[in-house]
Amino acid sequence: MRLDKFLSHTGFGSRKEVKELLKKKRVTVNGNVVKEAKYSVDELDDSIYVDGENVMYEKFVYYMLNKPKGVISATEDTSSRTVIDLIKKEDYKKGLFPVGRLDKDTTGLLLLTNDGALAHELLSPKKKVPKLYQALVQGKMTDEDINVFSKGVIRLDGDECLPAKLTILSVDEKKEQSTIKLEIMEGKYHQVKRMIGAVGKKVIELERIEMANLKLDANLVRGKYRPLTEIEKEKLKNNE
Ligand code: URA
Repeated sequence: MRLDKFLSHTGFGSRKEVKELLKKKRVTVNGNVVKEAKYSVDELDDSIYVDGENVMYEKFVYYMLNKPKGVISATEDTSSRTVIDLIKKEDYKKGLFPVGRLDKDTTGLLLLTNDGALAHELLSPKKKVPKLYQALVQGKMTDEDINVFSKGVIRLDGDECLPAKLTILSVDEKKEQSTIKLEIMEGKYHQVKRMIGAVGKKVIELERIEMANLKLDANLVRGKYRPLTEIEKEKLKNNE
């Protein structure tokens, strides 16, 4: 790989900015100052330093974001902020995108990566990757609803949903509101909202708390993200 590409990918700015770094003799490869942008490096074997700091190559990045309301799950948009806008410049990698979509007003766990193969696995309908949501619902959820969802008979615009596991955490009789968890194996458009709607209730707040074997980190403030740990990455890749 070209040295300027390597440095750009590891967060040292645009090719133009990298050229400046090189010109100022701030970069060494295997102990020698290198000034040529097109110098070829072995990104896995060579020891590359910028200002005396070792630069490690990471092809793929995996971030767990606690999505806030008001941002859309896309890489760009003409009018709204996107989840990518929440990523600091130094953490951004080309090709970074959200794995699946959460509605603009949905919060919680969203994985961002530039690993297209893993994203494809997680999003493939065939893989039936579980997603767990917690919701505040207007209306009293009932055992009958649990039954209905467990059979997967709810139809959304002609689409039949797979069986889903509904857990009623609490029902506020006075306000006629329920707090529930719902585990689904698909990712149809507005799926949770429409399933709840199909049994005559309405989602007020929706948060995703798990996806595959990833759990939303309780210490991750809304709007913040962190890289997945090595253990989380392994589990996700091995589908444990
Ligand atoms: N289901 C929804 O209705 N909205 C989401 O954002 C995710 C699942």
